[in-house]
Amino acid sequence: MEKKWWHKTVGYQIYPKSFQDTNGDGIGDLKGVIRHLDKIEKLGANVIWLCPVFASPMVDNGYDISDYMDIDPSFGTMEDMKELIAEAKKRGIRILMDLVVNHSSDRHAWFQAALQDPFGKYGKYYVFREGKDGKEPNNWRSIFGGSAWEKVPGYDNLYYLHIFTKEQPDLNWENPELREEIYEMILKWMDLGLGGFRLDAISHLKKNYQYTNLPPDGPDEYNMAFEYFNNVDGLADILCEMKDALTIGEYDHMGPEDVEDVIGENGSFSSVFDFCHTLDNVRNPKWGNTVALFDDYRDQLFAAQKIVDGRGMLCNFLENHDKPRSIDRFLMPEDQNLYSEKMLPVTNFFLPGIVFLYQGQEIGMRDDPKQSIQGFVDKPTFAIYDRLIAEGKTDAEALEQINCESREHSRTPMQWDASAEAGFTTGTPWFPVNKNYTELNYEAEEKDPDSLLWFYRKMVAVRRREDLEETFLYGTLIPEYETVSGVLAYRRKDEKNNVLILTTSLADGITLPFTDTIEEVLLNNYDTCEAGEETIRLQPYQCLVLKVKE
Ligand code: NOJ
Repeated sequence: MEKKWWHKTVGYQIYPKSFQDTNGDGIGDLKGVIRHLDKIEKLGANVIWLCPVFASPMVDNGYDISDYMDIDPSFGTMEDMKELIAEAKKRGIRILMDLVVNHSSDRHAWFQAALQDPFGKYGKYYVFREGKDGKEPNNWRSIFGGSAWEKVPGYDNLYYLHIFTKEQPDLNWENPELREEIYEMILKWMDLGLGGFRLDAISHLKKNYQYTNLPPDGPDEYNMAFEYFNNVDGLADILCEMKDALTIGEYDHMGPEDVEDVIGENGSFSSVFDFCHTLDNVRNPKWGNTVALFDDYRDQLFAAQKIVDGRGMLCNFLENHDKPRSIDRFLMPEDQNLYSEKMLPVTNFFLPGIVFLYQGQEIGMRDDPKQSIQGFVDKPTFAIYDRLIAEGKTDAEALEQINCESREHSRTPMQWDASAEAGFTTGTPWFPVNKNYTELNYEAEEKDPDSLLWFYRKMVAVRRREDLEETFLYGTLIPEYETVSGVLAYRRKDEKNNVLILTTSLADGITLPFTDTIEEVLLNNYDTCEAGEETIRLQPYQCLVLKVKE
């Protein structure tokens, strides 16, 4: 593989709205990100993915952009953005912005012009279609619930497509004029010194416009027609035009046949966030116990690596702003403790690929279940709630499911210290702080060398250690103990190093056959490593990163 600077990425994702407010309006801002750059540097991250800070009416917290060349006033100004890029650079950190180009906001000037004249220039920037038999053009369901089509005001039988909310009309990537505008905008941002982009919902850019109705898959008569708007044939042709920028695509389900086109040497992206291994939740009745979920997770991780097979770099992550917190997602309550919390990130941190952490993950932030549906604020949550009720669930059942699955858990404000509102704001936070902040916060963990925060720093330092980094980046991956339930283990090997990564999700630990000779214990969530001549004992939820003899 040809070496690139970004292979060394240890990324840190920031959801700016919930990171740090500096002007008391209850909303996190760019100055707040600047305030904490030293902490991100101390963690060892060298890339920040900033969730959208562009001008937006905030129907989907910035994933609905109304001006691609402006910063939303709630986050600050263009000057703040430039300062952030410069201050980050001083610390060896590059900034990735979150580019949302599958759709714009309905408040974007293009869409406003399109509404005035759906058959003119800007109408062609979006997807307008005639309805059929007095209904929408077809029965695709939006990813956020309800029809994927919305009637154009003032027309009897004209609709526009939105695979997310109706305030997020899809852009028409078949139109070269639109593509040019977007590429120009990307170049302007790159000129400001960005490291690159995370590309939102990118596998949806290309659609298969066969307007037949599909068999309904729910009581609403719609069909979640994913195969018609995700990873559709021809997608790579559109994306290739973007390949000069450093890009990490949000890419749902990259198949074996897509690898070359998507992240190969001449692929469309540097890397992708794929969700195969993050979809599940231990509280889903399908699992009900930590070990069963871990075994499946292990199999999925290794399967994904096998598919890529050294042809490109996956992006390994556990959390983001669209998922509940990883401790609650992977570990049953009875399995949650400081050992298992430290073990969890080690499971994928040393796999081939780049890595990303999400704000608050490094201190073990947790889900924040609500007492009532009114406690949530995200539009899609309410759409899910309505669907569950329509499917016959009671209010309590629907709430339970949402409390388990909601992406809003990861959006509670960052818990900096034990002062009012966790030090996030001097005002009223836009979304309530998790009440556990008096105990669980950054400052408390900073004072405790045994804390999760310190462990994350050690973990990043091991990965970035000069004499090991190349092995973690380009060394061979050898899965180990693959058939032992409750063990997730692998080896990374090249001519310089042989590193064994061992983790267990077993509450009683396990003794494994072991023939390696340990040279150095690089990382351990216990004080002891119980390795004998022929066996190694993994203590409950232990993780070990061992440099062993070649
Ligand atoms: C994926 C983003 O991560 C999510 O937060 C957003 O709601 C959708 N794309 C729509 O842009």
